[in-house]
Amino acid sequence: MRFVTTRGRAPATSLEWALFDGLAPDGSLYMPESIDRWAPEELAALPSRSLVEIGIRTLRPYTAEEIDEATLGSLVTDALNFPIPLVEVEPGVHALELFHGPTLAFKDIGARVMARLISALHDREAPTSVLVATSGDTGSAVGHAFHGVPHTRVIVLYPAGRVSPRQEAQLTMFNAEPSSNVRAYAIAGNFDDCQRLVKAASADSALLERLRLTSANSINIGRLLPQMVYYFHAVAQLARRTGSDRTFVSTPSGNFGNLTAGLMAKRAGLPIERFVAATNVNDVVPVYLTTGRFEPRASKQTVANAMDVGNPSNFDRMSWMYGGDVGAMRRDIVGSSHADDEISATIRRVYEERGYLLDPHSAIAYLGITRSGFDVRSVPGIFLATAHPAKFHDVVEAAIGHAVDKPAPLVEALSRPSHVMRIDASLDAIKERLFDSDRNS
Ligand SMILES: Cc1ncc(COP(=O)(O)O)c(C=O)c1O
Repeated sequence: MRFVTTRGRAPATSLEWALFDGLAPDGSLYMPESIDRWAPEELAALPSRSLVEIGIRTLRPYTAEEIDEATLGSLVTDALNFPIPLVEVEPGVHALELFHGPTLAFKDIGARVMARLISALHDREAPTSVLVATSGDTGSAVGHAFHGVPHTRVIVLYPAGRVSPRQEAQLTMFNAEPSSNVRAYAIAGNFDDCQRLVKAASADSALLERLRLTSANSINIGRLLPQMVYYFHAVAQLARRTGSDRTFVSTPSGNFGNLTAGLMAKRAGLPIERFVAATNVNDVVPVYLTTGRFEPRASKQTVANAMDVGNPSNFDRMSWMYGGDVGAMRRDIVGSSHADDEISATIRRVYEERGYLLDPHSAIAYLGITRSGFDVRSVPGIFLATAHPAKFHDVVEAAIGHAVDKPAPLVEALSRPSHVMRIDASLDAIKERLFDSDRNS
């Protein structure tokens, strides 16, 4: 399978190069040149397939020319080693819980598979170095995803004093291990400084001569492809439980990678009737679906802050998939946007009435499925629960009036001795760390 760019001004390339580039040379995003369609009998057999089997089947067409079947099998088994259960929250409304991985969010899934794809595609003496800037969450998902993965080294840069104590504990968890391949540095600066340093390092020719450097950011196709897997797994579980393989899916969206992966799964033949693009008040895509005009704007701060995105990068991919035809996109997607007070009231109400605790992002997805006029009693609905409520405990605790239990991975991160490593916001400081980790590998 070749990977083309959404702008079409750079040559099609292999999975390996699409993964290492992240952003394509023409400044746009990679997509597979075609979406492999599942045969009707494969779809009929979906309910009897395990998560790992579905993962292998989903990824095989995109990897087959570069990664052999046995390697793919073991990397998927290793990456998807936690459950992704479908839980009925109320009649006809199901949560797909994507937060049982090591950093308690859906990003674990894409990042863990991507780390192992990079490792499997490794063909040089030197390890691949991954440099990531983070405002908190992505860095720990990437760090945990690569931890212990052969032929890889990760350096995470986060702004000192600007991440929460829980985020910092998760970010720095591996700093105390002498031989860890993951290091997180607190940069004396803000998130923009961290991003600027990653960009500067990625453009430094002397550095690139010595190191194989990549940035595992959210637009990487290596994170998107594995996200298709859980849509198949959701429908498999729904069909097992209810006998229905028809469904509506609500995806809480910020940068729209998660929804794009769902659209790809639908193209592959998955019987999803329609998607809800569920957002907070950063609603440029719901507005586009109504007006036909895509008008990016500065983001607004909300209680679902991982979705505070005013110019979603994956809109390019969505638009490419529909050839820019908003009418065609409307047939597959309906928009739904929700303000902070509605999100908090929903967390409280669903907890009181159903005993189910939503994080703010999952609450938006829940609102998307329950407020879009679908008859979920005849065609069941699924919403993606993308983060554990303990990750956003401030908002959740304010909504329900008491503390949220900490799940085991968070207890472990918080119980480790803190090992914060501070460095200057300078390219030289980053280079020194990159060369150091290269020498120690
Ligand atoms: C918890 C959570 N939910 C939903 C999203 C939105 O996903 P996407 O950016 O793929 O639209 C994010 C993005 O970071 C997130 O962290």
